[in-house]
Amino acid sequence: MARELLPAYAAIVASGVLVAATGLAVPFIIKSATDEVVAGLQGSGGGVPAVLWLAFLLLLVDVANTLISNVGGYLGDVMAIRLRSILSRNYFEKLLRLPQRYFDNELTGTIISRLQRSITETTGFLNMFANNFLPMLLSVFASLVIIGWYSWWLALLMLAMYPLFTWLTALTSRRWQKLEKAKNLEFDIAGGRFAEVVGQIRVVKSFVAEPRELAHFNGRYDTTIGITREQSAYWHKMDVARRGALNLIFFGIYAIIFTSTISGAFTLGVMVLLIQLVNMARQPVQGMSFLVDSSQRAITGCIDYFKVMDEPAEFEGIPSADAEAGTLQTPLGQPVVSFTDARFAYGDDNAEVLRGLSFDVRRGERVAFVGESGVGKTTLTSLLLGLYHLTSGTLRVDGRDLTEVPLAQLRSQVGVVFQDPALFSGTIRENIAYGRPDATEEEITTAARRSHAHGFIIALPGGYDAEIGERGVKLSGGQKQRIAVARAMLKDAPILVLDEATSSLDSKAERLVQEGLEELMADRTTLIIAHRLSTISSVDRIITMRDGLIDEIGTPADLALTDGIYAELLSLQASASKADRKRLQRYEILG
Ligand SMILES: Nc1ncnc2c1ncn2[C@@H]1O[C@H](COP(=O)(O)OP(=O)(O)OP(=O)(O)O)[C@@H](O)[C@H]1O
Ligand SMILES: [Mg+2]
Repeated sequence: MARELLPAYAAIVASGVLVAATGLAVPFIIKSATDEVVAGLQGSGGGVPAVLWLAFLLLLVDVANTLISNVGGYLGDVMAIRLRSILSRNYFEKLLRLPQRYFDNELTGTIISRLQRSITETTGFLNMFANNFLPMLLSVFASLVIIGWYSWWLALLMLAMYPLFTWLTALTSRRWQKLEKAKNLEFDIAGGRFAEVVGQIRVVKSFVAEPRELAHFNGRYDTTIGITREQSAYWHKMDVARRGALNLIFFGIYAIIFTSTISGAFTLGVMVLLIQLVNMARQPVQGMSFLVDSSQRAITGCIDYFKVMDEPAEFEGIPSADAEAGTLQTPLGQPVVSFTDARFAYGDDNAEVLRGLSFDVRRGERVAFVGESGVGKTTLTSLLLGLYHLTSGTLRVDGRDLTEVPLAQLRSQVGVVFQDPALFSGTIRENIAYGRPDATEEEITTAARRSHAHGFIIALPGGYDAEIGERGVKLSGGQKQRIAVARAMLKDAPILVLDEATSSLDSKAERLVQEGLEELMADRTTLIIAHRLSTISSVDRIITMRDGLIDEIGTPADLALTDGIYAELLSLQASASKADRKRLQRYEILG
C-alpha cells in the first residue's frame, strides 16, 4: 500500500535502533563508574580523572542519543504526513470509483469521519511502531543477554514475564475491540448527521429543530461515554492483573539481585548494572500494553478503511476524461437510446420502479416523458447515465449494450440538467465550465447567454467570478437552474437529458431559456422531463408512464386526442389556467 515509504520507514527504525544502542551503553558506563568509585574509596583505581572521563563519556552518549532521536522524530513526522496523504488519496480515489448505490446508503459525514479515524489511528500506530517497537525489542534482547551473562536465573525470570504479559493483554483484546467498534459506530452516526445538519441548516432553522438535532448528537456522544467507561474500566482491571503479575516477578528479581550482592556473588557495580538493565527491560513490558492498545485501535480503524477499499468499484482506475471521450457512433438505422423489457428496482427490498418497459429514441429526436411524480422518470435518466444497472432487460446506447460501454465514455455522451441543480462552491465560471474546465471565456459567456443566465451573472458583485457558496446557496432556485443549463450546454454532448430543467423559472424566464434550449436541441437527441406541458408541446414524441410501464407513445397532437395521461393532464392544466384567469379577473374587478 505504501511501499514508497519503506526507505523512510527503514531510516526511522535505524535511528530507533541507534537510540536504543546508545541507551544501552549508559548502564555499562555507570557500572564502571560505580566500580571506580568503590575502588577509589578503598584507595585504588584511577581516581578522579578516571571518574571524570567516564562522566564525559556519559555526556557523549547522551548527546548522541539526543541528536539521533531528534533526527528520527523529524523523519517520523514527515513519514506520518506522507502516509496520511497516501491513505487519504487512495480513499478518495476509491470513493470516486464507487457506484451511485454506495452513496445512496452512506452519509457524507460518516464517510469523512471514518476516513479521519482510520488514518489517525493507522499513522499513529505505524509511527509508534517504528519509533518504539524495534528499539524496544533490541534493548530487551540485549538486556536479557547481559543479565543472563551474570545470572541465568534472573534472565529466565525476566523471559517468563513477556509471554505472560502478552497473553494477558491478548485476553483483553477481543472485548476491547468490540466496544471500540460500537463506539466508532456512534461517532460515525453522529458525524454523518452533523454534516447533514450543517449542509441543510436552513431547513433545521425553519423547523426550529436545533434542540432535537443537538439532543440527537449529544445522545450519541453520551453513549460513547458510557461505552468508554465500560471499555476503560475493563482495560484497567486487566492492567491491574497484568502489572500485579509483573510486580511479583520483579519482587523475585530484586530479591535475587540483592541477596547475590550481599553474599558477594555480584560486585556493587554489577548490582547497579543489573538494576538498570532490569528496569530498561521492564519499560517495554509496560510500553507493550500501550503498543497493544494503539495497535488495537489501528486494527479497528483499518478494518473500516479496508472495508471501503474492498467495495466493488464501478470501474478500474480513475477514467481520464479525454481518453474515454471518443464519440459513440450510432450505426445507421439504430436507435440512439433503446430500452427493451427493462426492469429495475433500487434494491432487493425495494419495489420495482420499472416493470418491463420498452421504447426507442431515434437520432436527433426529441422525446418527452410524462407521468405522475415517483413513476420513475428520473430513474430512467439515471439508468441512461449508467448510475444503476437494470435488474433485467437491456438498455442500448448507440446500438451497444450499456454493460459493454465504458462508463466514462457513455457519460461523456450525455449532457444532463438534473432535477436538483447541484452546483459546487466556487465561482460561477467554474460551475459553468465544470464539464469542460478548458472552455474559453467566450464559450462560457455564450452558454450563459443561451441559458439566459448572463444577465443576472453580470449584475452580481464579481460577475462570473462571484462565489456562490456551498451547493450554490447564494443563488436563487431559478438562477441555479440556469447555471445548470449553461453547464450542460457547454458540455455539448450528443445526447441531452433535461430533467425538469426549467421548473424553478417563471413562465417568462422559462420561455426565454426554452428558446436557448431549442437551439441546443436542434441536432441532438433529447430526453425531456417536464411537468409543465407547455414546455413539451413541440417535442417529436411523448412517452407516458404508469405503474412502471409505458402507457402511450405518440406525438403531442395524437396523445391530446386519446384519453390517456397526457390528455388528462392537458385538460387539468387548461381548467386550472381558466380558473386562474377567472381569479385574476375578480382581482382586477376588486382592484
Ligand atoms: N436512490 C433511490 N433509492 C431507492 N429508491 C429510490 C431512489 N431514487 C428514487 N427512488 C424511488 O423510485 C421511484 C421513482 O423515482 P423517480 O425519481 O424516478 O421518480 P420521478 O418520476 O422522477 O418523480 P418526480 O416527477 O417526482 O421527479 C420513487 O418511488 C422513489 O421513491
Ligand atoms: Mg424526477
